[in-house]
Amino acid sequence: MDLAAYLARRRELVDRALERYLPPRSEPIVEAMRYSLFAGGKRLRPILCLAGAEAVGGDPQTVMFAACALEMIHTYSLIHDDLPAMDDDDLRRGVPTNHKVYGEGMAVLAGDGLLTQAMVLLTDPAETAGHDPARVLEAAQVIMRAAGWEGMVGGQAADLEAENAAPDLARVQLIHAKKTGALITASLQAGGILGGGGREQVETLVRYGRRVGLAFQIADDMLDLSGDPRKLGKATGADQARGKMTYPAAVGVAAARETGRRLVEEAAELVRSLGPAAEPLAVLALYIMERTN
Ligand code: IPE
Ligand code: IPE
Ligand code: MG
Ligand code: MG
Ligand code: MG
Repeated sequence: MDLAAYLARRRELVDRALERYLPPRSEPIVEAMRYSLFAGGKRLRPILCLAGAEAVGGDPQTVMFAACALEMIHTYSLIHDDLPAMDDDDLRRGVPTNHKVYGEGMAVLAGDGLLTQAMVLLTDPAETAGHDPARVLEAAQVIMRAAGWEGMVGGQAADLEAENAAPDLARVQLIHAKKTGALITASLQAGGILGGGGREQVETLVRYGRRVGLAFQIADDMLDLSGDPRKLGKATGADQARGKMTYPAAVGVAAARETGRRLVEEAAELVRSLGPAAEPLAVLALYIMERTN
């Protein structure tokens, strides 16, 4: 499987759908929302959602609304993550951060607008019409729960609380699982639910998601230490400067890399039980630790 071609094709599909779900408008708030949404980005969460649906025998196109809702939630989390009150970053997706362009108030609202638009999309009768309503409700619940205090928001709060504290493995695992792992896991789970997957198939996707989700943040921490800022589209060295509790800070670079590798290998092995339709997920897992952006 040619992963680069697969990712490019899927990114293109997601971008086209996002353009449909949030078209240009004259309102300045929509411009600010679109600025960050279309600044680039790997579109990993929507791609995992589509691949999750496919892995259980579903049609990826029918879960595109959920995939795009996930990308909107993720982009909102990035806009808020970059605010001076949080990580205080100036560059994101290769361009100045939202608040640098539109001001802090507008950046807060652009994030709020994207989060709310995700809810609009997840409950849109036109988008959900072909699905079993119970599955739509379950998927929406899974995504919103993962975005909130039990997941991403809770992890971001824990991340702030842990600034300048002594690195602790159990603590950093919890932070990473929540701030990054939760939404990635929900992407797969929602894709599986909406794709018509059975309980066991969806559970396999969840177990895969927890592993690649944690590995994804371990890789992000490593890239902050030794990545190329031009490829990343964001500054490096920011974690140490802010006293962030990162995985390599807790266990060292070599052990962090080793843990990440073990996690993605386990994940790839897990999805093999889903058969050939899960092949992209197996390849994607390994890419998580090899990526340079
Ligand atoms: C960055 O996410 C924030 C983390 C959760 C580590 P991505 O690395 O997926 O960022 P984009 O979407 O490609 O810009
Ligand atoms: C952010 O983690 C996780 C989010 C939920 C946005 P980081 O703060 O490490 O992400 P980057 O490095 O700024 O992209
Ligand atoms: Mg952060
Ligand atoms: Mg940050
Ligand atoms: Mg980071």
